[in-house]
Amino acid sequence: MEERIVAGSRVEDEQTFELSLRPKFLKEYIGQQQVKDNLAIAVAATRSRGEAMDHVLLYGPPGLGKTTLATVIANELGVGLRLTSGPVIQIKGDLTAILTNLQEHDVLFIDEIHRLQPQIEEILYPAMEDFKLDLIIGQGPSARSVTLPLPKFTLIGATTRAGMITPPLRSRFGIVHRLDFYSDQDLKVILKRSADILQIHIDDSGAEEIARRSRGTPRVANRLLRRVRDFAQVKADGVISRAVANDCLAMLAIDNHGFEEMDKKLLLTIIEKFGGGPVGINTIAAAISEEVEAIEDIYEPFLIQKGFLNRTPRGRMATRLAYEHLGCPMVPGPMNLF
Ligand SMILES: Nc1ncnc2c1ncn2[C@@H]1O[C@H](COP(=O)(O)OP(=O)(O)OP(=O)(O)O)[C@@H](O)[C@H]1O
Ligand SMILES: [Mg+2]
Repeated sequence: MEERIVAGSRVEDEQTFELSLRPKFLKEYIGQQQVKDNLAIAVAATRSRGEAMDHVLLYGPPGLGKTTLATVIANELGVGLRLTSGPVIQIKGDLTAILTNLQEHDVLFIDEIHRLQPQIEEILYPAMEDFKLDLIIGQGPSARSVTLPLPKFTLIGATTRAGMITPPLRSRFGIVHRLDFYSDQDLKVILKRSADILQIHIDDSGAEEIARRSRGTPRVANRLLRRVRDFAQVKADGVISRAVANDCLAMLAIDNHGFEEMDKKLLLTIIEKFGGGPVGINTIAAAISEEVEAIEDIYEPFLIQKGFLNRTPRGRMATRLAYEHLGCPMVPGPMNLF
């Protein structure tokens, strides 16, 4: 797949760059005020009781800061952090090894927790609830079950698809938070902070311009900042102003709303081929040669949040905003009565 600049998901070389920009404590974590307020109380209460914090489930689209928040929580609690992810844990032994190696009150972060295999997920239930492991040792008639005590730990699960978490797993999280897209104002602050760390010169108008086109996503904002910096170095005198940001983003074919080709293609397909909808997600996926999951996880959440797309029981519909933005005339008819 062609690299998508405004994708919320991480692209290859970004890891070390992201590490340097990752906030370490709540006070550096910008936006998501309600989530932060709640977590600050949970952290303070946990610390004063000297216990392990309740298990936390974080969900929301890629690149909004779930992993970052998990590291922030561990730092605020002053405990160790162990990072892993659902698809990495292949056999039961992987998870039991991780669990038995935790220290008292540690945080265990499981990314993409919805991708845990069912038989592995089952190990988590007693571990989360009673801090114990139920193991079967041996095989056949000589098999016996033993129970191992575990240190009291905090599980932080992250997922982009809350709907795919099984109810028994979900019910074992005491704290559940959804991360939302960031406001342009918050993104501007994030950009200014990143620019400081990376020693990039950016003025207010430049930061605003990049923020506006970052799809409410810090990862996208930081990525665009890097691209605009290069552009500014080559084409301007290294300072990112609105004009410089504008020119660079135009060259990258990112429009005013942070839309790229694929977003436009998706909306245009619904409008031109399916009369504006409603049309089923599978049909759209086939029409634009994309995977259903990619549409649901990556493209759609932002389009829906911005009011360009509606999700109805009968399928997806393009809204008036989408018609206007793409310059398509609205044909009056039973299909687009909204
Ligand atoms: N609230 C924030 N304040 C400042 N920077 C942030 C914030 N949230 C995220 N970032 C930046 O965005 C980058 C991506 O965040 P992170 O890796 O935590 O996203 P994620 O939600 O875990 O994504 P994924 O779903 O792909 O795992 C981080 O490197 C961090 O620098
Ligand atoms: Mg992550």
